[in-house]
Amino acid sequence: MSAKLIKGTEIREEILEEITKEVAEIKEKHGVVPGLVTILVGESPASISYVTLKIKTAHRVGFNEIQDSQSEDISEADLLALIDKYNNDDSINGILVQLPLPKHINEKKVLNAIDPDKDVDGFHPVNVGRLMIGGDEVKFPPCTPFGIQEMIIRAGVETSGAEVVVVGRSNIVGKPIANMMVQKGPGANSTVTIVHTRTKDLAAHCKRADILIVAAGVPDLVKPEWIKPGACVIDVGVNRVGEKISEKTGKKIAILKGDVDFDAAKEIAGYITPVPGGVGPMTITMLMLNTLKSLKFKLGLM
Ligand code: GUN
Repeated sequence: MSAKLIKGTEIREEILEEITKEVAEIKEKHGVVPGLVTILVGESPASISYVTLKIKTAHRVGFNEIQDSQSEDISEADLLALIDKYNNDDSINGILVQLPLPKHINEKKVLNAIDPDKDVDGFHPVNVGRLMIGGDEVKFPPCTPFGIQEMIIRAGVETSGAEVVVVGRSNIVGKPIANMMVQKGPGANSTVTIVHTRTKDLAAHCKRADILIVAAGVPDLVKPEWIKPGACVIDVGVNRVGEKISEKTGKKIAILKGDVDFDAAKEIAGYITPVPGGVGPMTITMLMLNTLKSLKFKLGLM
């Protein structure tokens, strides 16, 4: 193996330690801690497991965490009223509505009802606009791209003038990370290309990339011969390709594969993120950082 592994599991620990320390300092000086509410509608096992991990992490870093579970049949109006309640609750700095929502609820309407200054997911159009403007206009970058940029910075990869190719144009990953890498500032100043399902020659674009960020949701889409030797490869894909019995717990667990053929790619790339244990752990970590930032904005510390 020639590539250096960028491990999200290790970077997560560093960042959570930093957050814990800062939360304790703010508590000491200002007598408050960040407040995060997670709203879960229904009982989807995947959503329950995400929310449980968010709550556990929030407790670990010393936040005040409110878990608000609502039944699957809550009306849209009642959910909007609940959001309004938390928008007006001074002790709450971050509101997270776990997605997806049941079909009878308009997701866009719900996300747009969150106060943009408490939108720690960074999904509200105001925060998308702030991200597009860049610089000190930015409040809450969406958590997965925020995590990707932080991994690139902490790995010491040069981004200024780098050719960044982003595979995928989703609102949650592809578009925001492309936007972030093109801005002026640390961990950015890159020349960015977004490629997608209608791109004519995917391979040719990928081969130019000094930093290749893949968020396509297609297992093993990126072939080793598409990778420039020494490039930094960030694999955002988490594809369930089967099941196996866990050696640790004896329970059935999903076999996960990224969007990049890892075993072959690691022999060519200079840096690469594994799946699992790469980008995945960064998303919740950056949610915590956004919630801390929200309190710091309110206290005038940022
Ligand atoms: N469901 C899956 N990922 C996410 C996320 O990052 N934020 C929210 N709110 N819901 C999700």
